[in-house]
Parts: sequence; C-alpha cells; structure tokens
Amino acid sequence: AGSAILQGKRVLVTAGGTIERIDPVRYITNDSSGKMGYAIAEEAARMGAQVTLVSGPTALPVPKGCQLVPVKSALDMREAVLSRLDASDLIIKAAAVADYRPAVIEPQKIKKKSDSLTLELVKNPDILQEIGTLKKEQFVVGFAAETEKLDEHALDKLQRKNCDLIVGNDVSQEGAGFSGDTNAVRIFDRNGLVEALPVQSKQAVARRLLEIAAARMKPKR
Ligand code: C5P
Repeated sequence: AGSAILQGKRVLVTAGGTIERIDPVRYITNDSSGKMGYAIAEEAARMGAQVTLVSGPTALPVPKGCQLVPVKSALDMREAVLSRLDASDLIIKAAAVADYRPAVIEPQKIKKKSDSLTLELVKNPDILQEIGTLKKEQFVVGFAAETEKLDEHALDKLQRKNCDLIVGNDVSQEGAGFSGDTNAVRIFDRNGLVEALPVQSKQAVARRLLEIAAARMKPKR
C-alpha cells in the first residue's frame, strides 16, 4: 500500500545529465544515469504526488504515474524548470547539469584539420541557484556530488543556493553515486546533518528523502 504522504502535492524532479552540443553530430555530457532522480519520481508518485520529471537523455523507462518532460541542454532544462516553478510544491534537483557549454554550436560538422583544436566553453546558468532566489512557498532539495570534504561542500551549497535540504553524495565511495543501483548519502539542512543513509538501493534512499521532505513541508491551506 504505502502511505499517501504526498497526496495533493505537485512535485518537480530533475534527473539525468544534460548534453551540450558542439556540432550536429557531437556533444559533451557526463556520467549521470538518471537512476536517482527516476527513483525519486517513481516513489513520489507512489506517495500520491502529481509528478513532473524533467530529464536529460537517459536509457530509463518513464516511471509509472509521472509526466516526463524530456530536455537536452542545461538551457532547455532551465526553461522547463523555471516555467513550472509556480506550479510546484516540492522541487528536487537530482540532475547533473553541465557547468559549461560550448560558446557556439557549429552549424556544420567540424572538419578534421589542424593537429589541435580548442573548444571555448561558457558557464551555464545555475538552475538551483535561480530557484533559490525565485522560490516562495516551494520546498527545494538540491544534490551535491562530491569527491572530498562532503559535509563542508554540501553545507556551503545549501547556503549559496538557498535550498531547504541538500543531499550530499560521496561519489568516490563504493556503492554510491553515478550509474549504480545503490547510493549512500548524507542529508543536511541549514543547521547541519539531518540523517546519514548507509549504502542501500536508490529506491530506499528516495523513499527516506521524500519522507524527510514531506514532514518539513508546510501543510496546504
Ligand atoms: O554546484 P553543483 O553543480 O555541484 O550543485 C549541484 C546541485 O545544483 C544539483 O542539485 C544540481 O541539479 C543543481 N544544479 C543546477 N544547475 C546547474 C548546476 C547544478 O540546478 N547549472
């Protein structure tokens, strides 16, 4: 059965990595599989939420009961998320958004010529940070994938990006991070550690994270 603790809530989840196009046949991306975000979307729907899943390209099926909004680049994701901000109660940003994109998208395939080729990259907007600035009643959860100083970096991100919770993910740890079916995380709020979840399925991490968020959300008037 499962409890309907998110009944009536509109949940927006971002998942997967973005792809940043170089030319018509090439792009830059990262190792994100989308599994953590998809697990969150699926569990939120199970808990009664109305779920919109904004996702970069992944190999995963659309989770049951979720509305998929497929995107490619960070700029696409930004547009998809910001246009749905006011219609969301809980926003969970599990996507691995590219920090940089090619300064120009070449309209034709780049031809092989000189011995070296320099690609100029420009910074992408930080969507989570923009949400943190624009948010009103929304409850916002960010992710922080780190290879060192997890607590320090996660707490710093939570503050800079003004989110309500941040999920710290030590991607160098065995059984945690990209592409596997398990994860181990440390969940923080403004005051510090809320809960540490040892290695377990991404589905179980998703359930516990949603329980913690649901318990902290303002009841609807
Ligand atoms: O600073 P960093 O990219 O590590 O922050 C990770 C968090 O910020 C994740 O929740 C990710 O989805 C979000 N993010 C974003 N837009 C970016 C980069 C990261 O929303 N351009």
